[in-house]
Amino acid sequence: MTLVPKRASESATEMVQVVLPNDANPLGYILGGTVMHLIDIAGAIACHRHTRSLLVTAAVDDLQFLHSIKVGDLIILKAHVTCVFKTSLEVQVDVYSEETLTGTRQLTSRAYLTFVAVARDGERVPVPPLIVETEEERRVCEEAHARREQRLKRKTESLKSEV
Ligand SMILES: CC(C)(COP(=O)(O)OP(=O)(O)OC[C@H]1O[C@@H](n2cnc3c(N)ncnc32)[C@H](O)[C@@H]1OP(=O)(O)O)[C@@H](O)C(=O)NCCC(=O)NCCS
Repeated sequence: MTLVPKRASESATEMVQVVLPNDANPLGYILGGTVMHLIDIAGAIACHRHTRSLLVTAAVDDLQFLHSIKVGDLIILKAHVTCVFKTSLEVQVDVYSEETLTGTRQLTSRAYLTFVAVARDGERVPVPPLIVETEEERRVCEEAHARREQRLKRKTESLKSEV
């Protein structure tokens, strides 16, 4: 099967939703778990668009919640593929809050996720190459390689500490 190379812009994904009381903690801020769920979904959509295959989430790098997002605000998630390996790929998901009345936007989280492309029987499948054209895209992909090395190291350490 020939894998057709794609640009990150072809799979870039933006999700917007309003934070409702059902998503919030008693302080009226969106739950961290809800944000994590949306990050997983936005990242997966971008990776599905790139690979057009089934995927599993292999890793989510450390996640910070820089500002809270309150009920009534919009939560905006922007996902784009940063780098493609053999059967796995990395996606960056930026999360923003937007006040509905003023339009003020703040970056609230940045997450890097790794997805692995799989067939229905679980076999890993190759992913299409990413077209890397600009200096910026090259830099982003190099950084992704460095993050990959670190997360695979952490995985090996976690597996060693399994009982
Ligand atoms: C993720 C998973 C497929 C990896 O399987 P594995 O046998 O350990 O890894 P493989 O040797 O098959 O590696 C496949 C690819 O995944 C990458 N990979 C595996 N574990 C990884 C991790 N923790 N972080 C980043 N990449 C990882 C490998 O580097 C390899 O990439 P490449 O082919 O692009 O070089 C397997 O651990 C799994 O199924 N985990 C559960 C996934 C899940 O349930 N997710 C939540 C719901 S979708």
